[in-house]
Amino acid sequence: MSGRASPWVLVTGAAVRLGREIALAFADAGWSVLCHYRSSAREAERTQAAVRERGAECLTVQADLALDDGADTLFAQCLALAGTAPRCIVNNASVFEADDAASASAATLRGHFMTNTAAPLLLGNALARWLGARAQPDGGGDHSVIHVLDQKVHNLNPDYFSYTVSKLALERSVALQAQALAPHVRVCGLSPGLIYLSGPQTQDNFERASRVNLLRRRIEPADVARCAVFLAGNASLNGCTLQADNGQHLVPLARDVMWAIDGPEADGGPA
Ligand SMILES: NC(=O)c1ccc[n+]([C@@H]2O[C@H](COP(=O)([O-])OP(=O)(O)OC[C@H]3O[C@@H](n4cnc5c(N)ncnc54)[C@H](OP(=O)(O)O)[C@@H]3O)[C@@H](O)[C@H]2O)c1
Repeated sequence: MSGRASPWVLVTGAAVRLGREIALAFADAGWSVLCHYRSSAREAERTQAAVRERGAECLTVQADLALDDGADTLFAQCLALAGTAPRCIVNNASVFEADDAASASAATLRGHFMTNTAAPLLLGNALARWLGARAQPDGGGDHSVIHVLDQKVHNLNPDYFSYTVSKLALERSVALQAQALAPHVRVCGLSPGLIYLSGPQTQDNFERASRVNLLRRRIEPADVARCAVFLAGNASLNGCTLQADNGQHLVPLARDVMWAIDGPEADGGPA
């Protein structure tokens, strides 16, 4: 990207795990990074240092996306820090708490919806509003929003009920928001499979569950992260979703994989 100022990417939840990988992948591609975090301030500084080691600029920004004004506050902070709007927003931050139809409540549904659905959509809307107000022709789809989804939305089971509902709503919104924000902003989805140990999972369970996919090997977080860079850089992609999951979505299970592999469905992967 020499000869042109590096574009900014905002990555939400970029202090740790997949968000950090995405931040590093954008840095490797020559982007400047706005590294958002909520409570992981020290880890966000480590991401910042790792991005800068790669020769890219990185600024950290704190916001709680569960708040009604969380997305707008974050977008305003990004404008102030970078002096311009991000060229790409990667909505990676997420709540992932176990429940089912029996235990789901208005509080669990609302809690997942605010961070996993409302905030990503509102950040995209804020970017389109900013571009629209400046009457800047988009130059053919330069600006983009990437919603990080989950293979679960293509391969349903009723576990993690509130989380799955929040991601299903976001997945359905990819095409809707692409229509709504045209021509200013492209909107794409990115659906990873199981990449990190989460919630009540043991290390042993994770080692086995993370191989329940067509390739029977773990999904590389860096591969998933590079998909985000690809979506951001390819102006022809709009309203579509990339599935970066070793084909996990093609292995149906009646329960979440972390429980299915220790239950009657222990066979999991394809024969
Ligand atoms: N992990 C997997 O195997 C997997 C599989 C499929 C899909 N995904 C999707 O991939 C993405 C990343 O997964 P992950 O496991 O790396 O994520 P994660 O570690 O569960 O969460 C990422 C970050 O989200 C932030 N966050 C949570 N609630 C927030 C709030 N109210 N406001 C602002 N930030 C908030 C947290 O930031 P702080 O730490 O700063 O508080 C957290 O570090 C998610 O969208 C997830 O749904 C993950």
